[in-house]
Amino acid sequence: MNESILEVEDLTVQFKNKSKLFGSSREEDRWKRVLNSISFNIKQGETFGIVGETGSGKTTLAKTLVGIYKPKNCKVKLYGKLIDFRKREDILLLRKNIGIVFQDPVGSLNPRVTVSDIISEGIPVQEKLTEPQRQKRVKEAAGLVELPESKLDSYPPELSGGEKQRVSLARTLIGGKKILVLDEPTSSLDVSIQAQILNLLIRLRKELSISYIFITHDLNVIKYMCNRIAVLYYGQIIEQGSTYEIFERPRHPYAADLIGANISFTSTNQFTIAHESGEPSKEGCIYKNSCSKRFSACESTPPTFDYGKGSVKCWLYDYMGNSKGEAGKEALEQ
Ligand SMILES: Nc1ncnc2c1ncn2[C@@H]1O[C@H](COP(=O)(O)OP(=O)(O)OP(=O)(O)O)[C@@H](O)[C@H]1O
Ligand code: SF4
Ligand SMILES: [Mg+2]
Repeated sequence: MNESILEVEDLTVQFKNKSKLFGSSREEDRWKRVLNSISFNIKQGETFGIVGETGSGKTTLAKTLVGIYKPKNCKVKLYGKLIDFRKREDILLLRKNIGIVFQDPVGSLNPRVTVSDIISEGIPVQEKLTEPQRQKRVKEAAGLVELPESKLDSYPPELSGGEKQRVSLARTLIGGKKILVLDEPTSSLDVSIQAQILNLLIRLRKELSISYIFITHDLNVIKYMCNRIAVLYYGQIIEQGSTYEIFERPRHPYAADLIGANISFTSTNQFTIAHESGEPSKEGCIYKNSCSKRFSACESTPPTFDYGKGSVKCWLYDYMGNSKGEAGKEALEQ
């Protein structure tokens, strides 16, 4: 495929620890690291999936990519331009090109504003349009997302869930954005409506050549929608690669647990995995407290190993001549 339009390297995001328990004066205790050295890239017209348990940092990643949160450090390039998150013009450039559609259309649509005015919010302020031009643009955007024109004078509470999500999409697309971050865009919808929205997204991607970062906990949706995926575990990408490869042969023990359907759903429809201990490790491999493959090397933090069709952050895949490799090979064969 073509070149990357968005390159993310070493993205780290942390929040101030508000808990009173963290009265410690140590700098590292005052911060909660939510994303840790995230790297991936997106090509034009592809759908890149992010899958991870609740609290793994998916929405934080989405919000950081449009400058809502400032990363501690990172190298983000949009169309080859290095983004400086401290500069307003760079944030505006991100927002001009990257849009977000959230899971809950109800929360993101003002109930007292007409659909037409909500969609207009997505027109960049620099574009000074006359009223007839604005209306024309709104009708085009509504047509793109297959929202009947008759709904443009309605208010959000008068719309169905699927229609609301179409309004969110139209508002994002009207400004000509090239990358959409879709944060669980269909999980609040009925299954039949979900399928309609997913098929609409596929058609829009092909027609407009836009790219998606698709966040979901639904593995069937991931398989249906995504060319490549990244698996997030407590803020770290532990494996990424082609969707087919990861579903056929997950390398990382956590990805294998996930895909092996060792999963239960909570009341909010988020999944959790039946971990042996559950707690991520602060030292060495982050998954070592739950990992059935753990071996001596896991006491230190694994780097990310490239395996051709993807990459994996696990010592088991360091059997290419490294001193830790032979032990990993043995552990893998057990
Ligand atoms: N503004 C914030 N300040 C402090 N902590 C935050 C903030 N936003 C998120 N967090 C914390 O960061 C972690 C990741 O949250 P995030 O919302 O990104 O997870 P998620 O993967 O989107 O989860 P879900 O699947 O439930 O939507 C959580 O522990 C959350 O409490
Ligand atoms: S590095 Fe070790 S503990 Fe971590 S996932 Fe791999 S085998 Fe398991
Ligand atoms: Mg979220």
